[in-house]
Amino acid sequence: MCGIVGYIGNKEAYPILIKGLQRMEYRGYDSAGVALLQSKEIKVFKCSGKVADLEAHCQGKDISGKSGIAHTRWATHGEPTDVNAHPHFSSDRKIALIHNGIIENHIALRQALIKEGYMFESETDTEVLIHLIEDIHKKENIDLVESVRLALTQVVGTYGIIVLSVDDPNTLIVARKGSPVIIGFGKDEYYVASDASALVEYTKKVVYLNDEEIAVLSKGNDLVVKNIHNETVPHSIQKLQMTLSQIEKGGYEHFMLKEIYEQPTSIAESMRGRLNLKKEIVALGGITEYEDKLLSARRFIIVACGTSYHAGLVAEHLFEDLVRIPVEVEYASEFRYRNPIIYEDDVVIAISQSGETADTLAAVELAKKKGALVLGICNVVGSSIARATHAGSYTHAGFEIGVASTKAFTSQVTVLTLMALSLAMRKEKIQRKQYTQMIAALEDLPNKVKYVLDSVNATVQEVAIYMKDFSNVLYLGRNYNYPVALEGALKLKEISYIHAEGYPAAEMKHGPIALIDENMPVVVIATKKGTYKKIVSNIEEVKARKGKIISIVTEGDVDVKNLSDFVIEIPETEEMLVPIIASIPLQLLAYYVAVMCGKNVDKPRNLAKSVTVE
Ligand code: M6R
Repeated sequence: MCGIVGYIGNKEAYPILIKGLQRMEYRGYDSAGVALLQSKEIKVFKCSGKVADLEAHCQGKDISGKSGIAHTRWATHGEPTDVNAHPHFSSDRKIALIHNGIIENHIALRQALIKEGYMFESETDTEVLIHLIEDIHKKENIDLVESVRLALTQVVGTYGIIVLSVDDPNTLIVARKGSPVIIGFGKDEYYVASDASALVEYTKKVVYLNDEEIAVLSKGNDLVVKNIHNETVPHSIQKLQMTLSQIEKGGYEHFMLKEIYEQPTSIAESMRGRLNLKKEIVALGGITEYEDKLLSARRFIIVACGTSYHAGLVAEHLFEDLVRIPVEVEYASEFRYRNPIIYEDDVVIAISQSGETADTLAAVELAKKKGALVLGICNVVGSSIARATHAGSYTHAGFEIGVASTKAFTSQVTVLTLMALSLAMRKEKIQRKQYTQMIAALEDLPNKVKYVLDSVNATVQEVAIYMKDFSNVLYLGRNYNYPVALEGALKLKEISYIHAEGYPAAEMKHGPIALIDENMPVVVIATKKGTYKKIVSNIEEVKARKGKIISIVTEGDVDVKNLSDFVIEIPETEEMLVPIIASIPLQLLAYYVAVMCGKNVDKPRNLAKSVTVE
């Protein structure tokens, strides 16, 4: 949440900062601001709205400066107004600060600072931090780095901050706890951001700051990293695994559409080197070391949020069906506050595209504290969850920028399927025949996904034209397709703002069926196999109450087709892989409805791509 970016060096800072904000805008787009160091003063430009609004606001103004900081905000404390936009200033306007995270004890700190005579311009928790730093700096008469460190010892909460000061024009001070900070190295220059996408254009040499670390970025000097206890800590320079083309639209109108169409490739990437049809091998390098522990686990507990939680629900079926180990799937945000019972022989699996979701990270820390083995299924390499877990597997889906998660979901399910298969084989819970069939089906999966993308587009657009004018939509599925229904509904509501609910189809008669009339479109995922016959009856029940049926069916289906107002056909595959294939038309449906409703699909209101606040 919130994007922070900083630059210090010999180039003009403004274009670098603005480009950085544009690349990170998916992290928040309520307001934006930039602070530039110009001879003896810091110039701040900020406004509510998007980065484009900030650029318009800066037009014709003096935006020179070889160092600066910039911020794109996802509002937590205080409305998205000009005043609440970052950067925030010290009272003498000599120090500016940007912040990603939440200062939880901001009320107490604010009251104490008001007593000391500090005046607040904004309602943000961040302004408290800058005045706290200023107060310590003045009273203790110590240098700014030490003032920042001491201030942070008083802070409860999370932060990724960058501090810019008139008195030390050659230095940026950076710190993190719970919010990501990546430092990039150039020649006599430093870049810093909450997200690698803001740096990739300029450097591949990076350092990931750890929690409670403070870094001093001085032009022409080596990087210095200290911990919150004022001890110097070593840092290792890593190579950024990202290319520029991965984070550009590549001719598509929206990132979401590009990412939907990338799925044949992203799924293949998730399997690369892990699946070998000829040798009939499924292996996930990242977890081999822990396989014995996994095989003797009492239970798997999956923690995740949003779409990643839905991938976890699919995995529950996969692990229980294939590996015969009990699985619980929990919203990370509930799990972390529930004092859950976790045994040392439990295995906790955290799923997260960004690897930065605050609740999932907290669930990981809790599970580690309780002695469980914790694995991560993350997309972003080097992310906080990937680093906090004992081991794990990257999904390798490539950079996902659209706020609505699409290719990350199908890659998560792919990797979880590989994991389940490999464990099932080692545990001798799967027959060789089924194992071989699954490997063959996985090998063919990218082709099937491509086929769906090529074949359903026109029908999906027809459905979108019909659906766009409704205020409510129900999504129904059973068994493996129940998480698909939840995911389809989440996609629609988050980008089109049409109210949508996913439901297990048989639960309809326990309440929601009361909602059904001719004004309620019902999307039913009713593919062959599994509970097909049962769901046909559920569709009859909806139909009898004049509900409109939009069905996702297996090619060649007759029964459901006869009951449906619209039919989207997908090719047949193993039942366990249907969630991957069936979710594709639902992603497209949400996309087209949102576009037809004139919504900003890549940056839906009130949302941000990575949720680094709880
Ligand atoms: O980065 P994560 O996978 O941890 O993110 C979890 C959710 O915030 C995310 O899936 C969210 O629900 C998406 N906007 C859904 O499209």
